[in-house]
Amino acid sequence: MVVRVVATSSLPIDLAGQVAAVFPDAEVTVPPRHVELTSIDLETTDALVCLLLDKIDRALLARAPSLKVIANCAVGIDNIDLAAATAAGVAVANTPDVLTEATAELAFALLLAAARRLGEGERMIRAGAWKGWALDQLLGCELHGKLLGIVGYGRIGRAMARRGRAFGMRIAFASPTAAPEPGDVRLPLDELFARADAISLHCPLTEATRNLVDARRLALMKATAILVNTARGACVDEAALAAALSEGRIAGAGLDVYAHEPRISPSLVGCERVVLAPHIGSATTETRTAMAQLCADAVIAVLSGVRPKNQINQINQIGARR
Ligand code: GLV
Repeated sequence: MVVRVVATSSLPIDLAGQVAAVFPDAEVTVPPRHVELTSIDLETTDALVCLLLDKIDRALLARAPSLKVIANCAVGIDNIDLAAATAAGVAVANTPDVLTEATAELAFALLLAAARRLGEGERMIRAGAWKGWALDQLLGCELHGKLLGIVGYGRIGRAMARRGRAFGMRIAFASPTAAPEPGDVRLPLDELFARADAISLHCPLTEATRNLVDARRLALMKATAILVNTARGACVDEAALAAALSEGRIAGAGLDVYAHEPRISPSLVGCERVVLAPHIGSATTETRTAMAQLCADAVIAVLSGVRPKNQINQINQIGARR
């Protein structure tokens, strides 16, 4: 039986070569750039490698009756209806671990950039508006000795905490279950917002975390505090954040993710005190290559009848609906 593998995007690995090494007759389709799922015929596809841009819902699964595995080249899986995939007997794999350090590095870069007002400085210089050194120019805040509040104390949250500790920060986190690293303090979510000097989001997007940072929680934050979001845009009410920033109710923000990417609310783009990155948390050559490799490994494993270590759903029998 011929194995058919489809990717929605080019990948920094040789997916076709790797699949062919195990399944010599395989048909592997890898487009030169991202292609919308709506324009791909999935009727005979056994394995799909997709991106966080690709919405996997019941309708898509219905178009893919032979599908056995979806490898999402992202750790977040809010683009996938996991229950529907599981009910359809489709294994779903994501890319944990390999992007932890890269994402924490970007989160810490955003924290530093917001604390030291690097975006404003860059814009001032590029606009030719810098008149020279001044004692009171672009005064930011130090991180040393401050309290870093982590929301989502999982792999990436803990990697962020390690970076905070290395900069002399104290760490608090909100999680009902996670065991603290030595010295870190567990706080109820609202208390974390009220006490932290910087809040960094590392939670998945779920119904419980949608708009977790809303006007009420922003109002709990110190006027000197900074918000960093490298998780998912919809965890933050962007209009409320823009209002809090422009009214000086919080000191700054560093954002990598947005509720309606690539659109960013004009009220945020207009804010001086926010550093904006274009969803590049895992965008290093090393990490993106490792993510693609995890996807290839998952596809080959499932098609070989083996459960990959990064499979996130429990399927009794792959393809059981058929
Ligand atoms: C990126 O946002 C990811 O979920 O991997």
